[in-house]
Amino acid sequence: MTQKGDPSGRRGANDLLVILRELLKAPRDIGALCPSSSALAGEMARPFGASFLGNGYLVELGAGTGPVTEALLRRGVPPSRLVVVEKSEPLACCLKNRFEGVYVVCCPAEELGSNMGGRGPVRAVVSSLPFRSLPGAVSVAIMREAERVLEPGGLFVQFTYALLGEMPFVPNTFRKVRSKVILRNMPPAKVEVFRKPKALI
Ligand SMILES: C[S@@+](CC[C@H](N)C(=O)[O-])C[C@H]1O[C@@H](n2cnc3c(N)ncnc32)[C@H](O)[C@@H]1O
Repeated sequence: MTQKGDPSGRRGANDLLVILRELLKAPRDIGALCPSSSALAGEMARPFGASFLGNGYLVELGAGTGPVTEALLRRGVPPSRLVVVEKSEPLACCLKNRFEGVYVVCCPAEELGSNMGGRGPVRAVVSSLPFRSLPGAVSVAIMREAERVLEPGGLFVQFTYALLGEMPFVPNTFRKVRSKVILRNMPPAKVEVFRKPKALI
């Protein structure tokens, strides 16, 4: 996996401090008390074996300190095929330092399309965005943008702490292909995988 070394072992503590600071600054944007566990991150990355992307890209939204990014790279996603979008500047800076060869963009996910630097097609969007705590209009705008950049037949992955009920804001044309509750996370979370319909010819 392409991850810059941390011989001092200080990165974990430093990342935690950065996310706590961001949580105090913008609690609705962070929407979580601690980073995702490796069990949750692993489930988010599960559909993406080394050959999944081919000549396409995977876009990760709301990467925070990078637990899901790490799981995607471990699963075999090539760093050069990964576009990571994070709105917080300090967090984006941590991600850039940590993940060599990954295209990290510091921008709101609502503006994803114009910040891809020409990369495409997008085969999958993996989101840790806290849709339930973001303002409704922002969630709608992000989901519209994610749907627009995702190629027909592409996958959309999202987790939620609401274990019951439907995932909000996911277009109703998307078909749910997998749903799994992860108990080994604080708090437990549900990961859902959706497929955008293939284009009608
Ligand atoms: C729940 S945290 C998830 C962090 C990490 N992926 C994890 O699983 O631990 C949500 C992240 O989304 C980011 N975020 C919130 N609103 C955003 C937006 N509109 N565009 C991009 N990132 C956003 C926050 O800064 C935060 O890092």
